[in-house]
Amino acid sequence: VSELQGRSYLADKDFTPAEVQYLVDFALHLKHLKKRNIPHYYLEGKNIALLFEKTSTRTRSAFTTAAIDLGAHPEFMGAGDIQLGKKESIEDTAKVLGSMFDGIEFRGFAHKDVEELAKYAGVPVWNGLTDEWHPTQMIADFMTVKENFGHLKGLTLTFVGDGRNNMANSLLVAGAMLGVNIHILAPKELHPAQDVVNIAQKFANESGAKLLITDDIDEGVKGSNVIYTDVWVSMGETNWEERVKLLTPYQVNMDMMKKTGTPDDQLIFMHCLPAFHDTKTSYGQDVAKKYGITEMEVTDEVFRSKYARQFEEAENRMHSIKAMMAATLGDLFIPKM
Ligand code: CP
Ligand code: NVA
Repeated sequence: VSELQGRSYLADKDFTPAEVQYLVDFALHLKHLKKRNIPHYYLEGKNIALLFEKTSTRTRSAFTTAAIDLGAHPEFMGAGDIQLGKKESIEDTAKVLGSMFDGIEFRGFAHKDVEELAKYAGVPVWNGLTDEWHPTQMIADFMTVKENFGHLKGLTLTFVGDGRNNMANSLLVAGAMLGVNIHILAPKELHPAQDVVNIAQKFANESGAKLLITDDIDEGVKGSNVIYTDVWVSMGETNWEERVKLLTPYQVNMDMMKKTGTPDDQLIFMHCLPAFHDTKTSYGQDVAKKYGITEMEVTDEVFRSKYARQFEEAENRMHSIKAMMAATLGDLFIPKM
């Protein structure tokens, strides 16, 4: 029985650096099995609840397909489908779902809601994104980085954009845990909160990762191996005016990629997706028209370039969520870490 069994994953710091590293490697192993059609039914007979207060393509699909590949049954419950949020409290919902399901994924707004769910469910709860953290994304992201470079320690990842959002928070902490140097490149108004920096710095002191929070583009991207960005306005936010004004200078384009000074074979672009890289989505069209721009956080040129790894990253959500569910719910033997 593993040390991970029965545990929830609400924020990056809930697992130790060795455990996160283990999950990255386990995910790479499960990807290998999947590609060779080798069965891996570690969760046969289990039931998994998937609660989504916000929309999702990747996280929903990853949990669903991962659960089925592991032999479990996933049940999707969208915002309008259950009593939660209208007629029933989180505490009561957690007690009911926990009595029928073996594990619960929750995507929502307030982070305290996923904490409350975990407090009363009595089964592992996995955070599929809150306004503060996106921990399951981290296993896929560092798995993708490791696939590309063969290792993690000593690499440099620059997150460009809203330095206070869930992705920036999670990348800062998870990167620091794994010994990846993390640069947060954002205008001063969008620099990470001090408590998040403090959590990350503590891990960085142990792993040797170097952290840099800056609004200077040249300094922020110099020597980077991974240029990473995310939407300027996250789910639940509406402040387009402010964000477009603040973040237009921080758009990821070919100029920025060149400014890293990193050799082409040592440089990749990543994005958790969904992305606004052109005006093809109706959402993008409306916003672009209003502000007279055609591309937002990343240009279409970079998005479709040889540097781009966002679709490998998206696929890896499935392998990594599988690793996390199998490790926290399955009867696997995982050596003490
Ligand atoms: N990256 C990610 O979480 O995507 P979805 O919002 O589509 O799940
Ligand atoms: N910061 C984005 C991430 C989406 C996966 C959001 O919260 O909308």
